[in-house]
Parts: sequence; C-alpha cells; structure tokens
Amino acid sequence: MTATDHARRRPGPEPKPQPQLKPGPQPAPEHTDLPARIWPLTARAVADGGISVGGVTLAAIAARHGTPAYVLDEDDVRQRCREYRQALPDAEIAYAGKAFLCRAMARWVDEEGLSLDVCSEGELAVASSAGFPADRITLHGNAKTPGDLQAAMACRVGRIVVDSVGEIARIAALARSRQRVLVRVTPDVDAHTHPAVATGVEDQKFGFSLSSGAAADAVRRILAQPELELAGLHCHLGSQITETEPFEAAARKLTGLMAAVRAEHGVTLPELNIGGGHGVPCTEDDLEFDLADFARRISAAIRGACASLRLPVPRLTVEPGRAIIGRAMVTLYRVVSVKHVAGLRTFVAVDGGMSDNPRPALYGARYSVRAVSRPADPVQLTTVVGRHCEAGDVLAADVALPIGTRPGDLLAMACTGAYHHSMASNYNMIGRPPVVAVNDGAARLLVRRETAADMRQRDVGL
Ligand code: LLP
Repeated sequence: MTATDHARRRPGPEPKPQPQLKPGPQPAPEHTDLPARIWPLTARAVADGGISVGGVTLAAIAARHGTPAYVLDEDDVRQRCREYRQALPDAEIAYAGKAFLCRAMARWVDEEGLSLDVCSEGELAVASSAGFPADRITLHGNAKTPGDLQAAMACRVGRIVVDSVGEIARIAALARSRQRVLVRVTPDVDAHTHPAVATGVEDQKFGFSLSSGAAADAVRRILAQPELELAGLHCHLGSQITETEPFEAAARKLTGLMAAVRAEHGVTLPELNIGGGHGVPCTEDDLEFDLADFARRISAAIRGACASLRLPVPRLTVEPGRAIIGRAMVTLYRVVSVKHVAGLRTFVAVDGGMSDNPRPALYGARYSVRAVSRPADPVQLTTVVGRHCEAGDVLAADVALPIGTRPGDLLAMACTGAYHHSMASNYNMIGRPPVVAVNDGAARLLVRRETAADMRQRDVGL
C-alpha cells in the first residue's frame, strides 16, 4: 500500500465530508480525465464538458431516455468479471445479485462464467427468466420465506445456504432430490466496516455462531437429514471491506471447523465460501480493495491452514456484488432548481434523490459528481440535493460544480451501480429511473422507467 493509499479513507464508515475546494470561486477544472478507479472503464471526457460512456454521450441518453437514468457500461461489467476469474482461476466466482440484477445482467454474468447468488424468490425469477443455469445459483437469506424455498426447489438451485435451525427441516421436507446446502457461519471477525453492513460479528442476525458451538450443531442436524447434502461452509463478513486480513482470519476459522467436522463425523467438506464485500471507491479519497493481494493471500491462508490440519484444500467461492457492478453505472440527473443561501451554501436540486440513491442518507456515503454542461465556468462548492420532501435528501455535499449551474443542466454521479437500483424506492410516488445499457456506441433500454400509471395500477382500492 502506498502512502497516498494510506491517506485515502475507507469507503465504509463515512467521516464528515472534507471539502477539497476552498469556499469561493475556483478556476474551471480541466475536463480531460475521468479517474478509472471511480468512473466506468469506457467513460471519456468529450467536447464542451460532455461525458461519453460506451461510446454514447450522456447528453444523447438524456435526450432519448430522459432523466434521472442509470447508465450501465456493459464492458465494465464484463471486464470486472474477467478480472475476478483471472485473479482466482480455481475459485468459483458468484456474483451477488442483490447489488443489481436484471435479465441482461444475469445473462452477462452467465456468459462470463460466473455463478449467481440470489436472496429472494424475485431475484430467482429474474435469473431464471434470463435462462441462468439453476445449478450455478445459490439461495441466501436469514429468513427465507416458504415462497423463496418453494421457488428454489422448483427450479432446483445448486445450493441453499442454511441460516437458521428451523429451515433445515423445511428444506429437507421440500427437497425433490438431494439438495446441496452450506452452513452460514458467524466467525466473529470484525472487518471494520459500517455497522449496518457488518455481518461477521456475533451480535447481528445472520448465521450460526462458531464460538458458541451453534455452527457445529447445525452441521450435526444437517448430516442427520438424508435429503440434504452438506457441501461446505459459508461466511460473509460485511460490505465495503478494503483489507485482506479479515478474510484470512475467517478462512482459518472456517477451516478449523471443517477439521472438527471431519474428526467428529468422518465427513470432508469440499467447499469453502468466504462471501463478498470487496470495497469499491466512490470518491477519489476512498481506499480500494486489492484483488490481486486478496487472491494471493486468501489462497495461501487456506492452503496453509489445510496443510497444518492435514485436510484436503476445499474449493473456494467468493461472492462479489459491488466490486462487479459498482463502477459500471453512472446516474444522470437534470438540475431542476438552484438556491443560494447567502454566506452559507449553494444548493443544486436535481430530478432524483434519495429514492434512486438512499445510500448517503442510510450510510453517509459520499459520491463524485461531474457537471456535463458549462465546462468553461469556474467552480464552487455546491451541495447536490434531491426532490424528496426531506431536508436529509442530500446526494452529495460540498462538491465542485460550475458557478453558473442552472435548471436544465445535466449532472453525472459516478459509482452508482451497486445497491442503487436494487434499493430504489418510489418514495413521494416518484417513479424509479430506467436502466440504459451502453456498449460500442449504442444505447439499449434494459429496465424501463416506472411511471405514475404503474403506481396507480398497483393501487386496487375503492
Ligand atoms: N454475499 C452475501 C451473503 C451477502 O449478504 C452480500 C451482501 C454479498 C455477498 C455481496 O456483498 P458486496 O460484495 O456487494 O459488498 N445495501 C448495502 C450493502 C448490503 C450488502 C448485503 N449483502 C450498501 O448499499 O452498502
């Protein structure tokens, strides 16, 4: 890690924004670079302050599909999938669909040779309708409903990750043929991330505690069910993790449990799933997860632990969500109003907000914003807010935007692929934005905009 990397902050728990600009006018930035660690791989600065992604200008997308819109770079997704396969050629890479899923995404992930995690009947339906092979699908969830389990059995998903004692008998009763399962273990490893997304520690709702013996007990119960085949152990430490050490620690702990299972039952478990959570920078100050370092060290940690326990090395699975999709999307907004509070702040209000990006309000997440118009203007510190009826509907505080920013201008927010569309709501009955994919100079609508008519149709009252 370089000194600059040390100076960068983790993308998880968000400290108070540190404005990079001084208050007051600053010279116009040079519109040449769009840092690849934040923007989609094909994003380019074009004439007059414009930005193109996948060879299509954001202005053209706004003109054709309206705003707000999620713009998705297909090349970026495919490239990230390939990076994972190259870094971990012997491992199974399962994309965590909860970060973002639509039929095209499921198809791309399949074509790139990844597996898929789903956590609900709805995600499973989207994946199945895209023809995703069921044997490469894993179902997760701390509270799987009867509907989730029935749907999983009906399409014969490859694996189900068992998260509670009650579901062991439920899965066994529903199984149409022998069902492969994994046990979700809570290894009590702190991955130093935001408490809302920290899942490796004891005091949270997921999984079976390793230290209390609950995980070993779950193994015993599963082995007693002839309809279930215990394929291995699983853990997920949290999200926006930038260090490798917590993964190494968890892998060693889970390998220890595998050795205990073999000693007690004579069963050698073939799979070790270490979850996802690999951090992605959303601003230039954020730390970045080092995939190559992770790949090297996690494999060495598992090999080392297995050697000392005289255990065959299990097949590793990793489940990245954000790291595959996070940087592939840009949200395109149009400015609706501008308000100057003398001596305090300039607010630029856009036509979206916390309904298409709840992450600043939920986790204090910070984002990079670029003006797509007015390249020659000097810039000033500006706060980008949404159109929702809450003062907390702030998308990005203290970002540099042109002084002349006015209604009708376009703004682009980077790194909005993960947990934006999937967590979007229609708060204030504002429809969810469309997803427009770009590739090789062409734009294609993948998910259409939600309209007032959609909302009216759901309401069957009166
Ligand atoms: N595997 C399991 C079992 C998970 O629960 C998750 C995410 C992942 C993999 C993928 O994690 P990722 O690589 O995307 O960090 N809404 C929050 C994130 C919640 C993550 C839930 N589980 C956010 O916007 O930051």
